[in-house]
Amino acid sequence: MRKKLKVTILISGNGSNMLALINDMMEKDHPAEPILVISDRPDAKGLKLAKSKNIKTAIVNYKKCSGQQEFEETLKKSISLSGAEIICLAGFMRILSPNFVNAFKNQILNIHPSILPLFKGLNSHARALSSGMAVHGATVHLVSEELDNGKILGQGIVKIFEGDTETILAKRVLKLEHKLYPRVLRNFSEKISEKIVLFDS
Ligand code: GAR
Repeated sequence: MRKKLKVTILISGNGSNMLALINDMMEKDHPAEPILVISDRPDAKGLKLAKSKNIKTAIVNYKKCSGQQEFEETLKKSISLSGAEIICLAGFMRILSPNFVNAFKNQILNIHPSILPLFKGLNSHARALSSGMAVHGATVHLVSEELDNGKILGQGIVKIFEGDTETILAKRVLKLEHKLYPRVLRNFSEKISEKIVLFDS
């Protein structure tokens, strides 16, 4: 049997994308395996979910670190010790410095809730609504030095309907994220360069 690529997932909250990735990697034919989930917050709900799937978890508590440098050094050590070959940011709400990104160049994937390069940063759903967009979505991309700016690996597109609120739209996008991120991780692990494009049905 082929050796599976080791994946470490970084979370800050609910971990629903993390769960979608883990569930897909549980498939026998998957080219990668989840070896560690790290949260920057001790209260992240996703930690419990990861444990329920028998995945090792770790907390690198940002608030207990003296600053970004100590946080990133601790995170780096934990990731390197895990032997990770791919790092998936899944609702990880911290900005990583160029120093950190370059330590794992072309190994870090992120999911962002917008059709990049539109609506980088926070509050993407509210900004898509207030811009009068007809469509919105999510993007999985490689993490580069600049925020939400790395190579696009896949995108999911949803319609915006009359009367949509931020909550309704976020829910519609998140549902598609759960399909998109696993598909992209599979392709990335197999070194398939074709971009994934999904439409909400
Ligand atoms: C997801 O919508 C993800 O795209 C977004 O946070 C949510 C996390 O949900 N990520 C970002 O905004 C990163 N900039 P989850 O914890 O249930 O996966």
